[in-house]
Amino acid sequence: MPADKTPVEDLAEDQAAAELAQLAAEIAHHDELYHGHDAPEVSDADYDALKRRNEAIEIRFPQLVRDDSPSRRVGSAPLASFAQITHSRPMLSLDNAFSDDDVRDFVGSVYRFLGQMPDGSIAFTAEPKIDGLSMSIRYENGRLVHAATRGDGTTGENVTENIKTIKDVPNRLPAGVPAVVEVRGEVYMTKSDFLALNEKMAADGKQTYVNPRNTAAGSLRQLDPKVTATRKLKFFAYAWGEMSEMPADTQLGMVETFRDWGFPVNPLMKRLFSVEEIIAHYSEIGLQRPDLDYEIDGVVYKVDRLDLQQRLGFRSRSPRWATAHKFPAEQAFTHVERIDIQVGRTGALTPVARLTPITVGGVVVTNATLHNEDYIKGLGNSGEPIRPEGHDIRIGDTIIVQRAGDVIPQVLDVVMEKRPADAVAYEFPKKCPVCGSHAVRERHEKTGKLDSVTRCTGGFVCRAQAVEHLKHFVSRNAFDIEGLGAKQIDFFFEAEDPNLWIKTAPDIFTLKKRQETSHLLKLENIDGFGKVSVKKLFDAIDGRRSIALHRFIYALGIRHVGETTAKLLARHYGTYDAFGQAMRDAADLSSEAWSDLNSIEGIGEVVARAIVEFFKEPRNGEVIGRLLEEVTPEAAEAASTSGCPVAGKTVVFTGSLERFTRDEAKARAEGLGAKVAGSVSKKTDYVVAGPGAGSKLAKAAELGVQVMTEEEWLELIGG
Ligand code: IVH
Repeated sequence: MPADKTPVEDLAEDQAAAELAQLAAEIAHHDELYHGHDAPEVSDADYDALKRRNEAIEIRFPQLVRDDSPSRRVGSAPLASFAQITHSRPMLSLDNAFSDDDVRDFVGSVYRFLGQMPDGSIAFTAEPKIDGLSMSIRYENGRLVHAATRGDGTTGENVTENIKTIKDVPNRLPAGVPAVVEVRGEVYMTKSDFLALNEKMAADGKQTYVNPRNTAAGSLRQLDPKVTATRKLKFFAYAWGEMSEMPADTQLGMVETFRDWGFPVNPLMKRLFSVEEIIAHYSEIGLQRPDLDYEIDGVVYKVDRLDLQQRLGFRSRSPRWATAHKFPAEQAFTHVERIDIQVGRTGALTPVARLTPITVGGVVVTNATLHNEDYIKGLGNSGEPIRPEGHDIRIGDTIIVQRAGDVIPQVLDVVMEKRPADAVAYEFPKKCPVCGSHAVRERHEKTGKLDSVTRCTGGFVCRAQAVEHLKHFVSRNAFDIEGLGAKQIDFFFEAEDPNLWIKTAPDIFTLKKRQETSHLLKLENIDGFGKVSVKKLFDAIDGRRSIALHRFIYALGIRHVGETTAKLLARHYGTYDAFGQAMRDAADLSSEAWSDLNSIEGIGEVVARAIVEFFKEPRNGEVIGRLLEEVTPEAAEAASTSGCPVAGKTVVFTGSLERFTRDEAKARAEGLGAKVAGSVSKKTDYVVAGPGAGSKLAKAAELGVQVMTEEEWLELIGG
């Protein structure tokens, strides 16, 4: 602890907030080195001093205690100590609705997808969205076999022993239940138990907790289930995973079954038909919210009939048959102290408002995104005024900020009466603040419209872009290299020594070799590393020398190519060689490769162009070439449902379909592993033509592609 720190008694509130943020990051860094790398870089005494300082500031400013404060971390057990469980069915999240119109859109989209008139005939359930943590509990032959947290949706943590301490959760189910039952729902702590626990903590001179949800999460993720047992956790059942038999054919029926089996279910669940009824129930639950003894953050609507749920299916992360109507976010007033510009991976200059720290819904907010130049001016994407009266944002302004869930805080409006007389309009930089290159707003080739994003033209010259690119490359859904996070990338990027630096992605994979031949600068002699962590790092890097194709494509950091697009590309092209070659060929806009790329369902022209542009840049080709000497992208699986005759085939639907809507037919085909294209090419396997089919049918005949009726298609896919 440096001697020049201001005594805690003399700290102003804003200084305190800033220091708590700094301490949270610093202590987390030391924890990570200590637990994750066995390589502490400070003495125990210095570490304790940091924790004491954090505590002293929090005692003086209890309102500033952060969610991520070191004093809040429940237990010191690294989460990796829980075994992992792969969910038999993924645990998905829900789409959100924020307004009555969003709810109307949701209901409308359900009818549209099913090809029905919106006549109020489809039943929906509405129930509170519990603010806890979701859990999947598996029973085999009536006995609880395991329980897992949601985790990343695919794999979660095995918390079986802890769940068994929750009285609401039966260990055995009544006789006659299906052989396999997975009940899903929310673990939560009541508001009254939370307050009582906090009172006790305070009486014992211990630090109190922030909110019931964090406390529930912390209580559950205890390695010692005895600790969990002392916390009064509760459970509501509202969904399911694998079921060897379905005991009901509606959402409500399923939940009633769970109730009969001994699970608590929420009493406010209702079955409704019209949008008006749904919205009225939302208001009703909103009115009851303060009196409920558990935290809720919205109302969840689900299509009641399970056969309709099945027809509606899923998008990549959420079901089409459900949505969460959120309660309004929390708001607060604060000041804009400064506007900083951050430069991202694709060179986008993003302005960020630095705010006088303020607590919004229990969390200290210090930044708000200002998106782009027009947003600061009060203009939307089409030049329309945004915020109630299109006020611009100036340094020194008093603003209303809003925080909704975990999203980045937004500026709702400017309080014009409080604008300082000398406040001047913000001038957006014309040059990149990092590399000094010109920063420009591109014009859309066809519409001539000015893009809202200002971009640095420096490309590889720009340090910020190069570093952000590397951070993206190692991020969780890309190469996900343990021990090589954003902080380490900063360090390796700045390194002066060629035996140590990482300037481009291939350098990650040559680091070990360079280190072996270097006598001067050994990583293990550098503060914060040490022998054990260096070995771990090199092992982690070697572990990624073979990688799924979609991760590889995503990691390249091509503009507009997110995870979903990367998966589409991997599935379409199968191997990196095929993909790379096709992208180079597609530079010729009259080529088959270009039209094939555009025919991939889910890839539009803007994305296609961005990919082709990326491959045109010789520097990218050079970096990928070096990368491929180190790393092997694995061939993508042709389709998830092998055995199905349409898996891996390319289908085009044309004309009007009678049994399905177009969206539904497409989702169904994709679910069976087929690719659905928008236009007919040599690569098309089947054209499914309904009445009124025109040019696509002619093209199919010309290319000799097999044409079938909707009935024949249904027969092929098994009805
Ligand atoms: S249904 C496939 N119902 O909200 C959909 N979720 O944003 C399964 N949640 O991870 C979820 N209350 O943790 C559903 N009544 C409720 C809920 C609920 C809370 C949580 C759940 C889920 C998250 C989705």
